[in-house]
Amino acid sequence: MIELLPTKTIQHFVPSEQTQRSLRDAFGRFATGVTVVTVGTDEGPIAITANSFASVSMEPPLVLWSPQKSSKRSQYFVTAEHFAIHVLAADQDDLCWRVAKDMHALSGLDLVENSEGVPLIDGCLARFECRQHAVHDGGDHDIIVGRVLRAAFVEEGDGLGFFKGKMNRIVTQ
Ligand SMILES: Cc1cc2nc3c(=O)[nH]c(=O)nc-3n(C[C@H](O)[C@H](O)[C@H](O)COP(=O)(O)O)c2cc1C
Repeated sequence: MIELLPTKTIQHFVPSEQTQRSLRDAFGRFATGVTVVTVGTDEGPIAITANSFASVSMEPPLVLWSPQKSSKRSQYFVTAEHFAIHVLAADQDDLCWRVAKDMHALSGLDLVENSEGVPLIDGCLARFECRQHAVHDGGDHDIIVGRVLRAAFVEEGDGLGFFKGKMNRIVTQ
């Protein structure tokens, strides 16, 4: 038999300006990993922490993520022909917060660049070097679809998770 959740704890609402907190909380019940997306610019590396990453297609290999339109850094990503998405490991929470606070957080670090000039971060669980495939309107976000040109991953290591607005460690059983 399927057990129903106790109805007392369920919060029903219609999304509106008054219920934005509830919508954010409901979205936050979907556990995600955490990524850092990088682009190379005349000003040096620009980065953003993003949990909106999703794999999309195997053939062709496509992924997506969503920068908020009002973000100071979104234009760098919307206009970039190439970018890289780094899936963070559990011990990279410091990197996650530093990049979330400062788009120039990677400046001054000795980062390798790929052949398209995109800065690459080491020590991640997986990395997807992408060429922009499409940009779609997604309300107050843009949806950037990338074609994966090169990918890498490591076998070992726990993941950095984001759930109910908090970071946590994702482990395998
Ligand atoms: C765990 C986490 C996930 C985030 N995911 C996204 C995201 O998917 N898209 C986005 O635009 N910003 C996301 N952010 C916010 C940005 O990393 C960054 O804090 C924001 O762009 C700062 O605003 P600014 O660009 O105007 O300085 C996330 C932040 C955190 C901590």
